[in-house]
Amino acid sequence: MAQLWGGRFTKETDKLVYNFNASISFDKKFYKQDIEGSIAHVVMLEKQGILTAEEKDSIIKGLTSIREDVENGTLEITDEYEDIHSFVEANLIDRIGDAGKKLHTGRSRNDQVALDMRLYTRAEVLEVDALLKELLTDLLSIMEENLETYMPGFTHLQKAQPVTLAHHVGAYFEMFKRDRLRLKDIYFRMNYCPLGAGALAGTTYPLDRNYTASLLGFEGPTLNSMDSVSDRDYLIEFLSAMSTIMMHLSRFCEEIIIWNSNEYRFVEIDDAYSTGSSIMPQKKNPDIAELVRGKTGRVYGALMSLLTTMKGLPLAYNKDMQEDKELTFDAIDTVKGCLALFDGMVKTMKFNKDIMAESAMNGFTNATDAADYLVNHGVPFRDAHGIIGKLVLYCIDKQTSIDKLSLEELKAISPVFEEDIYDAVSLKTCVEKRLTMGAPGPEMMKEVIRMEKEYLAEEWQDK
Ligand code: ARG
Repeated sequence: MAQLWGGRFTKETDKLVYNFNASISFDKKFYKQDIEGSIAHVVMLEKQGILTAEEKDSIIKGLTSIREDVENGTLEITDEYEDIHSFVEANLIDRIGDAGKKLHTGRSRNDQVALDMRLYTRAEVLEVDALLKELLTDLLSIMEENLETYMPGFTHLQKAQPVTLAHHVGAYFEMFKRDRLRLKDIYFRMNYCPLGAGALAGTTYPLDRNYTASLLGFEGPTLNSMDSVSDRDYLIEFLSAMSTIMMHLSRFCEEIIIWNSNEYRFVEIDDAYSTGSSIMPQKKNPDIAELVRGKTGRVYGALMSLLTTMKGLPLAYNKDMQEDKELTFDAIDTVKGCLALFDGMVKTMKFNKDIMAESAMNGFTNATDAADYLVNHGVPFRDAHGIIGKLVLYCIDKQTSIDKLSLEELKAISPVFEEDIYDAVSLKTCVEKRLTMGAPGPEMMKEVIRMEKEYLAEEWQDK
C-alpha cells in the first residue's frame, strides 16, 4: 500500500478501506495525461524560479522514462498504488531521488485529477467527433447514390407520403451534424486549465497559470480555484451529447431492424454484420443494430449517475467526484464502438430498391397528391380531401390503388379528373414536385447535398 499522505496517521489503513478508496484500477487509463500535466507543471515551476533548471531536467527525464517504460511494458501499473498520481510520483522518486519529491510543489491531487480528466476527455471529444464525421461522409455517399430511390415516408409508422432513401438518410445526417455542433461547443467551453487551483484555494507560490495553460493547449486558466477543482459540468455536457448521439443511433437502428425484417425486406444487412441462431438455421439476425440500440441505456445511465452524484456536493472537492471516471470511460468506449460498428453496418447494407419503391406505391402515399390535383383544378382543399377519402375507400374495397383505376371509375367520384391524373399521382411526379427547401425532390436534394459537402470540408478542430 503506497500512500502519499501517511505522515498524519498512526495506524495502517484497513485493507478493505484501502481498496474501496483506491482508484488506480481505472485512473491508470490516464497515465499519459498525468505525466503530460506534470511536465508542464515543472516547466512552469522552473520558469518561476521555484525549481532549478537541473531539478526540472531531472524530473522531466524521470517522467519521460516512466512513460516509456509503461508503454514498452517494462513498468506495470499495479494496485499497490492508491491512484495514478501516487504511482507516477513514487516511481519518479525511486528513479531520481530527492528532486522527485519537489514535483508536487504548489499542486494538489484535486487540481491534478481535474486536469488529467480534462486532458483525457478533451482528446476524446475530438475522437468522437472524427467518428461522427466519418459516418456523415458515408451517409452523404448513400444520399448521393439514392436521389431517386423511392420509399414510403411514415408517420405513426403508417405509410404517409413517398420520399426517397436520400431524403430519409438525410434526416439522420442533420441529427449527427447537430451532434457534432454540440461537441464543438463543449470543447470550447471545457478548454480551460484547472491546474494551479491547488486543493481549493490556490497557492502562495508564484505560479504562472497562464503559462501552464498555454503549454497544455488550453485557451487559458480557469478563473475560480474552488470551481476549478469541483467542476464536472463538462463531463455532464459530454455525457449528455453522447446520450443524444446514442439516441440518434438507436432510432436509426430501430428503423434498420424494421427494414431488415421479413415483412419489410427494404434492406439486407451484410453477413459480416449479422449473426445466426444456434437452433434456427434460417435465421440472420440484426444483432449489431440491436446491441447499439441496447447500449443506449448504459450511456443514459452514465449521465443520470453523474448528475445524481453531483447534485448534493458542497464546495469544493469531495471524494464522490472520483465516481465520474469509470462511467465516463465506459460511455466514451461504448459510443466510439457503436459509431464505428454502425458506420460499417450501414456502409455495407444492401438496399432492396424495387421492394422499397413497390411499398411506396402501395398504401395510398399519393393520396395527398391526388387531392392537390383537384385543388389545382379549382376544387377547395377541404372538399378535395373528402373526395379523395372516398376514392381511397373505394380502392380498399376493390383491393386496388388510385393509379390503377380507370378514368371512368375516377370520374364517377369526381368529374374533375382527366387523363393527366395518372401522371400527377405517379411516384416519380409525387417526389419530383416536392421542391420546397428541405423536401425530397431530387433537384432540391442535390442543392442540400452541395451545402452538406461544403459543411464537411470545414475543420473546426484545426482552429
Ligand atoms: N482519485 C481521486 C479522484 O479521482 C483523485 C483526487 C484525490 N484527492 C483527494 N483529496 N483525495 O477524484
